[in-house]
Amino acid sequence: TQKPWQAKLVLLGEAAVGKSSVVLRFVSDEYTENKEPTIGAAFLTQKCRLDNAIIKFEIWDTAGQERFHSLAPMYYRNAQASAVVYDVTKASSFEKAKSWVKELQRQANPNIVIALVGNKIDLLSESGSGSAADDDDEEEEEEDDATTTGAGGNSNGTPSGGATRAVPKEEAAAYAQEGGLLFFETSAKTGQGVVELFTEIAKKIPID
Ligand code: GTP
Ligand code: MG
Repeated sequence: TQKPWQAKLVLLGEAAVGKSSVVLRFVSDEYTENKEPTIGAAFLTQKCRLDNAIIKFEIWDTAGQERFHSLAPMYYRNAQASAVVYDVTKASSFEKAKSWVKELQRQANPNIVIALVGNKIDLLSESGSGSAADDDDEEEEEEDDATTTGAGGNSNGTPSGGATRAVPKEEAAAYAQEGGLLFFETSAKTGQGVVELFTEIAKKIPID
């Protein structure tokens, strides 16, 4: 069928993990460095072309701040899909993502397609086959006191972030697999993984 069909998708996750930025990348192929927090929720749409169908996503981008938590059921109640986002450099955001997944599994549509999304991979300074078991795993200052991450200036192809990965990819992938979730790592900043995320979700939503 070439007639677009619609699917309601909700984004959930801790504040500042990049939900709105991922959506902005998908909908407009844009990125803004200092995006303001979402208040309540934002609604956006975007079409996604599959081999034999066009799906129109109706996207609810929810606010991650705790004071908005109680609004979330309104947005996930009739959703066919959800992207639960965390920040790969922030362990607490992964714990929050897991609690969102539990809430969805208890309260949302039992057929909901859930994708677990580790965002901000552009911040990592991984040198190829970096073993995640290094001793630098401690939660150092995760605050913003890195002032102006000086590495941004050079363009020699090295990652400009230099942040430490706080959520091992294997751990998140294993968690996703156990729970029957899709799993992606993305960067709203570079666009890496974003179209793939929505396309794979679209493929998994049952057409009725
Ligand atoms: P709430 O609306 O408060 O729930 O936050 P959010 O999850 O929508 O996060 P938002 O998209 O507003 O991004 C928060 C901050 O992280 C902004 O300063 C973004 O520019 C930044 N950010 C978002 N995605 C990325 C990314 O992929 N890489 C990097 N380096 N920064 C990002
Ligand atoms: Mg937002």
